[in-house]
Amino acid sequence: MYTYFVTGGAGFIGANFVKYLLRKYSDIKIIVLDNLTYSGNLATIKSDLKNPRFSFIKGSIGDIKVVSSIFNKYFVNFVINFAAETHVDRSIINPRIFFETNVLGTQNLLEIAKKYWTIGYDVKGYPVYKKNVKYLQISTDEVYGSSESKTTFFIENTPLDPNNPYSASKASADLIVKAYSSTYKIPINITRCSNNYGPYQFPEKLIPLSIKNILDGKQIPIYGDGQNMRDWIYVEDHCRAIDLVLHSAKTGEIYNIGGSNEKKNVDVVSLIIFSMKNLLESNPQYQKMFYSSASCFSPQLERINKKLISTVKDRLGHDRRYAINSSKIKIDLGWSQEIQFEEGLLKTICWYLDNQNWVKEITSKSILN
Ligand SMILES: NC(=O)c1ccc[n+]([C@@H]2O[C@H](COP(=O)([O-])OP(=O)(O)OC[C@H]3O[C@@H](n4cnc5c(N)ncnc54)[C@H](O)[C@@H]3O)[C@@H](O)[C@H]2O)c1
Repeated sequence: MYTYFVTGGAGFIGANFVKYLLRKYSDIKIIVLDNLTYSGNLATIKSDLKNPRFSFIKGSIGDIKVVSSIFNKYFVNFVINFAAETHVDRSIINPRIFFETNVLGTQNLLEIAKKYWTIGYDVKGYPVYKKNVKYLQISTDEVYGSSESKTTFFIENTPLDPNNPYSASKASADLIVKAYSSTYKIPINITRCSNNYGPYQFPEKLIPLSIKNILDGKQIPIYGDGQNMRDWIYVEDHCRAIDLVLHSAKTGEIYNIGGSNEKKNVDVVSLIIFSMKNLLESNPQYQKMFYSSASCFSPQLERINKKLISTVKDRLGHDRRYAINSSKIKIDLGWSQEIQFEEGLLKTICWYLDNQNWVKEITSKSILN
């Protein structure tokens, strides 16, 4: 029976991963550590809290006492570090917390894992670790910086070249993980994934914000000329990849994970507008909800069109294109993405329409209102 220590498990991808594990394995224990920042919320894992295979602890990955107490109490097999400050715009306004959480928090986890997993030393002085343990750092394609050329794709040894405080903090964390692997031989992997979308994403990111604004009758802001390109992956495809890396990847390896689905921001938003309009027109239940939920304007389905898109001043240091090559994980571990973008987007829109209470609960104390 494996014990998974999942940090940031009340956030978007962490919570999806926890739910994925609970569905897939019956003989596991999951401990989630999350300090419930604006993007982490107990509402996201409410149904899991009752599960005997699941425990939640409120606290920070940077807190030595809290992290040590978890290693003291449980035989932790896997640390999966999702915990992070994640929004680029916030990192531009207040970078410091990004370095405290994403850099120092990561180092704290590694240091404590090293301490509790060490069972002796070899003749050269390297620690020898317990069997069946691994630290997995959840990183991002943003550490590679911007790929201006349309024909270039990031591979795992593309030099790190971050351009904003968020991606710099994530790149720094990757280097710390690599250093712990080289210096102390601690068993690690790093995954670098492209833009995720799906259920439970805080509605400040492009896709859930667009859905929310359409329902609220608000404009959908897009930076600059809207031509910035991102690769999109459905969150469950990412979760499957993480599970594979955890169980099957050779220690020390880094894996890119992408959806092979590059899209311009403006095209993503246009598709959301088109899909939502179709859905609302064809589904009387959603239509009823649309007419009853919009409070600040007189809701009309005809108003759901491209005129809702409003371009705003470009983000400082805005990366033009992230483009990822996921061949390595496909060849080494046999992973591939399963959910096509149009299908995943529709599932996501339906999820947000069906879970308006969650949206209200998670945004009630946020800057979005
Ligand atoms: N969302 C994406 O598209 C994407 C893509 C690639 C990689 N990633 C990485 O995946 C991870 C999860 O991203 P997400 O989109 O789910 O983010 P999120 O903002 O939804 O969730 C982050 C979670 O971390 C928690 N947290 C923040 N600081 C903490 C601390 N000091 N201690 C404990 N918990 C803390 C928050 O409360 C929240 O629950 C991040 O490391 C991010 O860099 C995200």
